[in-house]
Amino acid sequence: MIPALRIASLLLALVALGARAQDLQPIKDAGPYVPSPDSVVSDMLKLAEVGPADFVIDLGSGDGRIVLTAAKVFGARGFGVEIKDELVRKSNEAAKNEGIAGRVKFFKRDLFKTDISQATVLTMYLLPDTVNLLKDKFLAELKPGTRVISHDYPLTGWIPEKYVQMDLEDKVQISGVTTTLIYLYVIPAKVAGRWSAKMPPAVARQASLELRQQLTKVSGSARLDGRDVPLEDVKLRGDRLSFKLAGRKGEFTGQVKGKSIEGSFSGGGPKSAWSATLGS
Ligand SMILES: C[S@@+](CC[C@H](N)C(=O)[O-])C[C@H]1O[C@@H](n2cnc3c(N)ncnc32)[C@H](O)[C@@H]1O
Repeated sequence: MIPALRIASLLLALVALGARAQDLQPIKDAGPYVPSPDSVVSDMLKLAEVGPADFVIDLGSGDGRIVLTAAKVFGARGFGVEIKDELVRKSNEAAKNEGIAGRVKFFKRDLFKTDISQATVLTMYLLPDTVNLLKDKFLAELKPGTRVISHDYPLTGWIPEKYVQMDLEDKVQISGVTTTLIYLYVIPAKVAGRWSAKMPPAVARQASLELRQQLTKVSGSARLDGRDVPLEDVKLRGDRLSFKLAGRKGEFTGQVKGKSIEGSFSGGGPKSAWSATLGS
């Protein structure tokens, strides 16, 4: 074999070996099988405002109750992933018996290696260290606006949009206490950076925005015709951004679509359009 070909085949063999090594890694146990009580399942799905347009993914789906209820009661589609064969079989059988097998599926799959990008709602009832190991995966794979619901354990450092706390006798045999918590998070769009902006003429002829972001917390300033003006009341929920200009009337709202923002400005009179493009 000529040297260049030998090197290429050696590289291919190494890549194949790397992929196999990753597949051979032991599956991390993200938590024992403990089903969420039915009332908690219902409260989780209500808190996420699940509806027919939603695609629900449950990580560590147990007997499938969260995804099954999302489909049966709330009209959603989705899938669950679970490592225990018997639970996967039972969940698919229940879906078939309920007549919803066309809308929900259960797979024997490691949750850490599952592509979750299809979710509009992601649910989990997993060990506290596991939910925190998943944070980077959520930010990398989930679309802005995706609702993440965690039963009992919070994502450390993330501010929940809502949470509910209740006491349930059913929980005593699971966790030793009656306290039950459900956290709702909304995946924020990525807005950090310098945006060149087109503002209504009454606001500025030349404009840019400088945004800083830590998850859902956003701050920054606008440069309007050569003058820096701090932003106030900056809010980011999913892909929806809103802010005010310090010392001026009116509010800007907009939708973040990747590297562009399109929105409207209401300053008392008729609304006018504004837009921004990242990095130019
Ligand atoms: C606490 S139970 C929750 C079951 C269900 N989500 C519910 O709330 O009723 C956690 C489930 O995760 C499963 N599990 C643990 N590690 C996993 C992994 N790496 N990949 C997929 N499932 C896993 C367990 O087998 C168990 O059924």
